[in-house]
Amino acid sequence: MSDVRVLVTGGAGYIGSIAVRTLLDHGYEVTVLDDLSTGHRDAIDPRATFVEGSLLAGPAVERALAGCTAVMHFAGRSLVGESVTNPSLYWQNNFEGSSFLLAKMRQAKVKRLIFSSSAATYGDVGHRPITEDDEGFPKNPYGETKLAIDRLIHSEVETESLSAISLRYFNVAGAHGELGERHNPETHLIPNILRASSEKPMKIFGTDWPTPDGTCIRDYIHVDDLIEGHVAALRFLLENRKPMFHIINLGSGRGYSVREVISTCEKVQGRSIPIEESGRRAGDPAYLVADIKKAERVLNWKPQRSLETMVSDAN
Ligand code: UFG
Repeated sequence: MSDVRVLVTGGAGYIGSIAVRTLLDHGYEVTVLDDLSTGHRDAIDPRATFVEGSLLAGPAVERALAGCTAVMHFAGRSLVGESVTNPSLYWQNNFEGSSFLLAKMRQAKVKRLIFSSSAATYGDVGHRPITEDDEGFPKNPYGETKLAIDRLIHSEVETESLSAISLRYFNVAGAHGELGERHNPETHLIPNILRASSEKPMKIFGTDWPTPDGTCIRDYIHVDDLIEGHVAALRFLLENRKPMFHIINLGSGRGYSVREVISTCEKVQGRSIPIEESGRRAGDPAYLVADIKKAERVLNWKPQRSLETMVSDAN
């Protein structure tokens, strides 16, 4: 048993709940902080200590940080489309929430942080894998808030009060046992394809993008691979005591178009998926694929699971 306790913010959400279970299975102790605004109480592993509250609620954050050595910060809003229609929700929840958490971490002398950053910080870089050195020009408020938080974390690290790794997720998919995506409404591609019917066909957002088949290209990563990347990042922070800051991409390093994802789902479900071609969705970049060499080099991490596995696990 490890005596390292990790605070997982957003531990009732899709990715956070899988992180909680995996950390506990690795012998870490876990405290969850979640306000249940988008997460689910029944997704929280009963072995974890649960503090119900928001990132902006001082006493709850202080209680949650007690006894912790590190924080995995997942809590936040994460929908590109919603961020375009409701930007202030994103600045308040994501940026202000993270800023407050950092202040409380400093106060509580909790010096290690792993942050859920995003590929949405990059915007349209062009048709090539994106490296962490690519300058970010986010195309939507969601990406802007994540980039602003990365910068804030960097400034905190400069004061030597913190060691941090910002993990830039590409498109996370799949499930860990019964823990999968349960968003309401569901806007993500794979769950929407899997549920499409002739009454509610799967809408393709744009068929005139500058890509080989005209649909957007994304890099899909299995949630279990993603969480293994977090465990590797935690070990790295625990083993290297000097203040540091790394930004590291977590993706598969391979791009699939929306149409290619639909064909994979058709293969897994053994049916033809009803589709409807519709217009572009505001805030979408055409192409987002990760260069994952840094994750391999620094964290000794490599994704193991295919798109077909992600789809079968989500099915
Ligand atoms: N798409 C459709 N129809 C749908 C849903 C999605 O055509 O019903 C398309 C989108 O336009 C996009 C692609 O499928 O081209 C993937 O869309 P998702 O909504 O599944 O995911 P996003 O790429 O918008 O965003 C996701 C996460 C973000 C993260 C980003 C990183 O939601 O938090 O991946 O690439 F930042």
